[in-house]
Amino acid sequence: MPAASRIPRHLAVIMDGNGRWAQQRHRPRIIGHRAGARAVNLCIDFCLDAGIGALTLFAFSSENWGRPEDEVGALMKLFINALDREVDELHRRGVRIGFIGDRSRFSEAIATRMAHAEAVTAGNDRLALNIAASYGGRQDITAAARSLAADVAAGRLRPEDIDEALFDSRTALGDLPPPDLFIRTGGDHRISNFLLWQLAYTELWFTETLWPELDAATLQRALDDYASRERRFGLTGAQVAGAQNGMSPA
Ligand code: FPP
Repeated sequence: MPAASRIPRHLAVIMDGNGRWAQQRHRPRIIGHRAGARAVNLCIDFCLDAGIGALTLFAFSSENWGRPEDEVGALMKLFINALDREVDELHRRGVRIGFIGDRSRFSEAIATRMAHAEAVTAGNDRLALNIAASYGGRQDITAAARSLAADVAAGRLRPEDIDEALFDSRTALGDLPPPDLFIRTGGDHRISNFLLWQLAYTELWFTETLWPELDAATLQRALDDYASRERRFGLTGAQVAGAQNGMSPA
């Protein structure tokens, strides 16, 4: 297979370990999140250099609203500062910014900045950067089901016309290929209600590295591992090899 096809088209990341990174340094958790924001920049740079077309980052889950009020407040300030600081530069570098998740829970100050970032960068095509904020995978699937049900109830759609492609188009990221590679930092081996629908055939890669310690070498290790894996999508190894040689699977 040519080398270029071994680069993931879409990378999804759970950025975990900010709190522990700060605790190890006897600093407040928000210091870890600030260091985490620097790692976000490193990850974006890496994707641009590697030619990865889409990057989806889990910045804030629907469950994270339950964290202590001062941590949530400090994270919101961090998001505002990051949006004010980074959007112009990302635009200059050809990044298209999008947000997935329940936007209605954010303050006006954040919602306005999100809409602005999306509008300014809408025409870019070098990297689709999706920030999952107030996002939950179950919430995403439920919203898709609700939108299809509304169409059926209104007589615009027949239940038998609902297939995977149509369902997919109603989920977040329906306009992108599903993630080829998922990375979680921080040592835990779970999906934590991230892209439950979209990760069906994604290759999973876990590292003990805490998110603020992320470096290009760690990301390259993930890509090298990904490149060495055989993706079968439910077929046999022989079928996959045949398809790569131009034969149709038996
Ligand atoms: C998980 O680490 C991280 C978060 C809940 C927040 C992620 C936010 C950032 C990386 C900063 C800025 C992001 C953007 C997009 C500008 P944790 O706090 O759960 O760490 P722990 O498991 O060690 O406690």
